[in-house]
Amino acid sequence: MYDWLNALPKAELHLHLEGSLEPELLFALAERNKIALPWNDVEALRKAYAFNNLQEFLDLYYQGADVLRTEQDFYDLTWAYLEKCKAQNVIHTEPFFDPQTHTDRGIAFEVALTGIASALKDGRARLGIGSGLILSFLRHLSEDAAQRTLDQALPFRDAFIAVGLDSSEVGHPPSKFQRVFARARAEGFAAVAHAGEEGPPAYIWEALDLLQVSRIDHGVRAFEDERLMARLIDEQIPLTVCPLSNTKLCVFEDMNQHTILDMLERGVKVTVNSDDPAYFGGYVTENFQALHDSLGMTEEQARRLAQNSLDARLVR
Ligand code: HPA
Ligand code: ZN
Repeated sequence: MYDWLNALPKAELHLHLEGSLEPELLFALAERNKIALPWNDVEALRKAYAFNNLQEFLDLYYQGADVLRTEQDFYDLTWAYLEKCKAQNVIHTEPFFDPQTHTDRGIAFEVALTGIASALKDGRARLGIGSGLILSFLRHLSEDAAQRTLDQALPFRDAFIAVGLDSSEVGHPPSKFQRVFARARAEGFAAVAHAGEEGPPAYIWEALDLLQVSRIDHGVRAFEDERLMARLIDEQIPLTVCPLSNTKLCVFEDMNQHTILDMLERGVKVTVNSDDPAYFGGYVTENFQALHDSLGMTEEQARRLAQNSLDARLVR
């Protein structure tokens, strides 16, 4: 099944570039930039990838991102991810980039963006992979900080297709970012937001009604709210679901309890994505494979999931 799933043409719509930083590259960049790491080797770092919740993961994710310093570092990070896409027949990707993770530690917005954008451009020209970058605000920081990040992005308006919202969900509802999303939409950005990963279904309603998002990232907790399920089905709002992430971060105790296939069968436009593949044990194909192994996903279901990902692209 793996080879068949790998060959299936698909799009990835939920991928944090900083979360694709493999331990080997992390160590190589630390050496290049003369940064001392708290782990002795790649093995020791991999051993630290055991999480009880989203926050435990985020703490390590922000620590890992500290090795990214130069434009070349951001290029190399993005290029390594695009090569994975090529190997897994991901023909289109819409990755997230968290500028504040870098600007808050003194890396210029332009340095990070230029490295990422030139790799995406080369990916289109040399690998034939379509792409569109999503500027994601860190929700544990203030709305004013998000507004300043949007200010920094406007001179590079064409580098982005959308704004997004990620980081620590509970206690930071979409409503906190209503004004910055309105301004971004007025500037022509599409909108997406993480909602209903650890946060309640009410956050999904807010993302739809207050932020006017075109997709919900994760959204798995919609399953608890029948009225919301009906709306997602009725309006065919895509959910970018990340199965391995959900089990690694204990959103579901075990993959055999994941509801993605139930949602698919009820007519929700669900898609399969890797979120932070370097931390969660696999890229898109491994996420599909896990659904086959634990939930008995059929080829027909895999085809529909892949088609949903192609249909839910913001750009073509
Ligand atoms: N959720 C919220 N924020 C994130 C995630 C996630 O799964 N990955 C990287 N930042
Ligand atoms: Zn995510």
